[in-house]
This record gives sequence, structure tokens and C-alpha cells, in this order.
Amino acid sequence: MADRDQLVAAIEEATYASSIHNAQPWRFEILGDSIAVSLDADETPRTVDPVGRWALASIGAVVANLELALVAATGQEIATEVRVGDLVPEGELAGGAAYAGRPLAVLTITDVPADDERRAEAASLGGAIRERFTTREPLTGGAPTQVEWAQIAAAVPGSQGVMAAHEAPESLVRALLRLTAAAELERQDDADYLEEVEAWIERTESTGIPAEAVGLPDAEGRIPTRDFNQTPMGSAATGEATFFEHDPALLVLTSGSDAPLDQFLGGYAMQRAMLAATAIGLGIGVLGQALEEVDSRAAVDAAAGEALGGDVVVHQILRLGHPASPLTHPRTPRRPVAEVIL
Ligand SMILES: Cc1cc2nc3c(=O)[nH]c(=O)nc-3n(C[C@H](O)[C@H](O)[C@H](O)COP(=O)(O)O)c2cc1C
Repeated sequence: MADRDQLVAAIEEATYASSIHNAQPWRFEILGDSIAVSLDADETPRTVDPVGRWALASIGAVVANLELALVAATGQEIATEVRVGDLVPEGELAGGAAYAGRPLAVLTITDVPADDERRAEAASLGGAIRERFTTREPLTGGAPTQVEWAQIAAAVPGSQGVMAAHEAPESLVRALLRLTAAAELERQDDADYLEEVEAWIERTESTGIPAEAVGLPDAEGRIPTRDFNQTPMGSAATGEATFFEHDPALLVLTSGSDAPLDQFLGGYAMQRAMLAATAIGLGIGVLGQALEEVDSRAAVDAAAGEALGGDVVVHQILRLGHPASPLTHPRTPRRPVAEVIL
């Protein structure tokens, strides 16, 4: 039987995962040698997440971390049973309410020792869990090299094998930046969206995004980072801006369909890609805006299909690059671990 303190420590480590607006909607139940992960949708953002994809992706991200943290802590193989595919959504989809309160994944410590490959992965990707963060700063120190792209792509499939990572070719980068900017522009007339974004800047002591982590907009308007700056607290009001990289490098995470399971695995893959990128020393931005509304998503999928070949569904777009000097902006806070264990 696993030691409870060891499991609590692994859960705490896992909560350093990425989540939509740093809502940290995950909850954990320790059941002997297993940990059930569920979604608490009481406080998840709704306007950016009309069908619950970002809530499910946030749970996927924490599950990716938890697997690595449990292998590192116990040295055993971890069996992850993802239950999202079997679940019938009940009620409102926005913010993931329809999936809330039921186990979305159950991770069990097996009695099989982890093999060398799993241990090495837990050391390298797991070792990056606390180092990883999302940046909205320029990444002007150079794009990832081909070896670095390959390392990131290799980290993505993980145990599920459904998701793929692609370096976006230049034509796709241009299309994605254009569609993201258009989605962002559309949002600027949406009072509910702006109100929600503002509410997630420094939401509480342990949730939301610190104002200092938001960064300045691109002076040349080419890289549409999510405009947390439109709010009265933001820097747009002051007219401040900065110069971003000239040739942004984008990673596109895709699968063949858009079922809730794919949405969960999109977050799982995103987290693993972020950890691999962190281990390499890359800065990581997230461009999720164009994936939130039906029409804009269809345009993204069509552009990705044309550039990459075949029918693809895009689950996340990451901006990757080396920072010119170490990034120093403050980290997002986390809920105390006792608050997320049921
Ligand atoms: C599903 C999902 C979508 C996200 N979309 C965006 C986005 O569009 N723009 C952005 O700047 N950050 C985005 N993020 C990053 C979160 O804001 C970030 O993970 C959270 O604030 C916690 O901060 P950290 O990643 O630095 O730990 C997204 C994260 C997730 C999991």
C-alpha cells in the first residue's frame, strides 16, 4: 500500500500544471493505491470555454504531471484509466460543468517496477514540472532547432498515442496568426469576455494570473497574445508595447477527432510538450483564442489540414522559442494542496 504522504506530495507536484486562466479546476481523491481526478466546475471560466474543452484540457494537463510525479515518487509503473470517453455529459457544457464531480481519470500504482525508459522520462519531464511556466514575453533568442522539435514531438504521445505534434510550416504559421488575431479582435466587442478575463487577473491569492505575468502586446501587432491588456488593469491603456520575434515558431497539437476524450488528451499532450520544451530551455506561449468558437475552429482545422495533409483537429497552438535572456516574470500561484484533495 502506498504511503499517503508520498501520494499527497505527488499531487502537490502535479498541481503545477497549466490550466485555463490558472483556474486549477482539478480535485483528487486518494483511494488506497489509486488517485481519482475529477473536475470542479464551480469556478471555471465559461466565456472562453463554451463547450468545456479547456476544462477537460486542464484536467488532462494535471493527469500528465501526476503520472510523471507518481513514477518519480514510487519507482513503479502507473496505470492510468481515462474515463472521459465513457462519460455522458450532463447539463451545461460551458466551463465543463457537464463533466464535473465524476472521476475523469484514475491513476493506480501497480506492483510492476517502472522500466528504465519510464524512469528516465520521469526524471527529465518530471524534473521540469516546477520549472515550467507560460510566457507572454518575446522569444527573440532563436527558434527551436530540428533536434529540439523532435524531442518535443517524442514527448507528446505518452501512454495514449492519439495526439501528434507538428512544427507549423510557414504558411500555417501565417494562417494561425491571422485567425488568432481575428478571434482576438472579435472578442474585443464582447463585454462578457472582457469582464471574465479581467476577473481572472489576480483572481484570488491562489488562483488567476498575476498582472506582472501578462506582458506587453507586440508593438508590430503580428503575435496576438491573449489580450489580458484590454482590461482597465492592462497595459493597452498606457500604450506600452514591445518587439516580438520576427519569425514565430508554432507547435500544433492535433488528433483525428474532437470527442471529449480528444479534448482531454489535448491538454495532456500540451503539458508534456511544455515539459519537454522547458527541459530544453525554451520559452512557451499559448495561443488558444482561435480554438474557442465553432467558425474560427473550423478555419483553423482547414488551414492545418491543408498544410499538414489529411483531416486534422487542432487542440492547441504553442509558441516556442529561446528567450534572449532568462525570463524573470512572476509565477502564477497555486491552491494549497489540502484544498484540492477531497
Ligand atoms: C487549455 C488551456 C488554454 C490556455 N489558453 C491560453 C491562451 O490563450 N493565452 C495564454 O496566454 N495562456 C493560455 N493558457 C495558459 C494559462 O493561462 C496558464 O497555464 C495559467 O495561467 C497557469 O500559469 P502557468 O502555465 O505559468 O503555470 C492556457 C492554458 C490551458 C491549460
